[in-house]
Amino acid sequence: IPVDSFDLVIFGATGDLAARKVLPGLYRRFYSGQMPADARIIGAARADLDAAGFRDFAARAIRDHVGPAKQDKAQIAAFLEALDYVALDATGTQGWEELAPKLRAGVVRAFYFSVAPALFGDIAERLHQHGIATADSRIVVEKPFGRDLETAKALNATLATHFAESQIYRIDHYLGKETVQNLMAVRFANILFEPLWNSQYVDHVQITVAETVGVGGRGSYYDKSGAMRDMVQNHLMQLLCLIAMEPPYHFDPDAVRDEKLKVIRALQPVPQADIVRGQYLGTRGRGKDSVSSYLEDVENPDSRTESYIALKVHVANWRWQGTPFYLRTGKRLRARTSEIAITFKQPPHSIFDDAADTWQENVLVIRLQPNEGMNLKVMIKEPGPGGMRLVQVPLDMSFAEALGEEGTDIPDAYERLIMDVIRGNQTLFMRGDEVEAAWAWADPIIRGWEERIEKPQAYDTGSSGPDDALMLMHRDGRRWRSIHD
Ligand code: BG6
Repeated sequence: IPVDSFDLVIFGATGDLAARKVLPGLYRRFYSGQMPADARIIGAARADLDAAGFRDFAARAIRDHVGPAKQDKAQIAAFLEALDYVALDATGTQGWEELAPKLRAGVVRAFYFSVAPALFGDIAERLHQHGIATADSRIVVEKPFGRDLETAKALNATLATHFAESQIYRIDHYLGKETVQNLMAVRFANILFEPLWNSQYVDHVQITVAETVGVGGRGSYYDKSGAMRDMVQNHLMQLLCLIAMEPPYHFDPDAVRDEKLKVIRALQPVPQADIVRGQYLGTRGRGKDSVSSYLEDVENPDSRTESYIALKVHVANWRWQGTPFYLRTGKRLRARTSEIAITFKQPPHSIFDDAADTWQENVLVIRLQPNEGMNLKVMIKEPGPGGMRLVQVPLDMSFAEALGEEGTDIPDAYERLIMDVIRGNQTLFMRGDEVEAAWAWADPIIRGWEERIEKPQAYDTGSSGPDDALMLMHRDGRRWRSIHD
């Protein structure tokens, strides 16, 4: 079903995010028939281009970032028709007078701030000065949403000068991932899990977001952030919230976000003993076998920034008292895999004497990427006449197998989120108070290691992270799941 017609202005339209995600995502929605034929996408950036130049830029972005199945010449040409461009100075006067008349009355108006947060204020102000932003215009902003509580508050205040909270769409692209949304479906559309979803039955939860890539060309940004700011404060925090939150009364933006906020506020401070930070090493080899280290990638031999972090987190409320959540994320690990594993407790009493040594916990694994799916590990009788021996088997379901084409043609997070902006649905966007609460939790943790001038531990490229991360669980008598494809 097509969304309502819209004018979408992308500030920073010639940047990396526009090329990799925003423009290809819009094209895919156009291809699927969801973008109305008269919708307009107006690029705005400093680059001295005209509409034709921007269309060439978008054509390249589509060629490079859209899969072969949707490379359709006629469709691409029709999509490019919807594009226009204004060369504009976000901090000056150039271009703004030209932008204003390009926007139509009576259609949804959205502004995508695909620029450094330092420019948010300038752009917001000029949109108002030039009468371009209307009372129901929407703005889309991306992380980094501040680097601590203070800067996040300042950013929120800047945006609030010109826009109401209901107009602000803060993207955390993890919330746009199909399987992340599926967490809510699994929990709240089934009766099976929710009765067991608490500390009486859940031993612990593991959330893993492992990447194989290094920090690549983003060294200067990343070295000022590190895994805690780059991944945990936002993406892993959102996953934790969806797992830990109480059932919202309705699948409605504020109902969901209210529940997530309660989880963040219930997080206990994390002692430094429950945190392991790491930095990847390189390998010396010939030619392609040689891999640079973190310190080489960020060109800072003294860097104390972490490219890996593992931590044990407690949600201090009735439901989760005593059930730890172990979170880990890192770059240059063994495999690219993101998953959530809920490990259940032992049955209260075993009736099978022969099975004591073969018993294993029930585990529900939700695979976020790749091979999106779910796996429930259950105990059954080992086949054969040799008494009542037990064996664990997986009830394994890949969405691709279960749903056929629909299960493999999973839309990219950005596609979904941009269409939600046009629909005016904020459910999958972070509210300002959520972002601030997450920083209020993260700040003292970060300050702790900054004050102690602590250096992260080295780990090998292609490993599972620093050895001490294993200890974080071993000392509690638990084990991380292995990181594999
Ligand atoms: C981004 C981080 O927000 O998420 C990156 O800044 C990280 O460092 C990326 O690589 C991971 O996203 P995905 O969708 O590839 O899991």
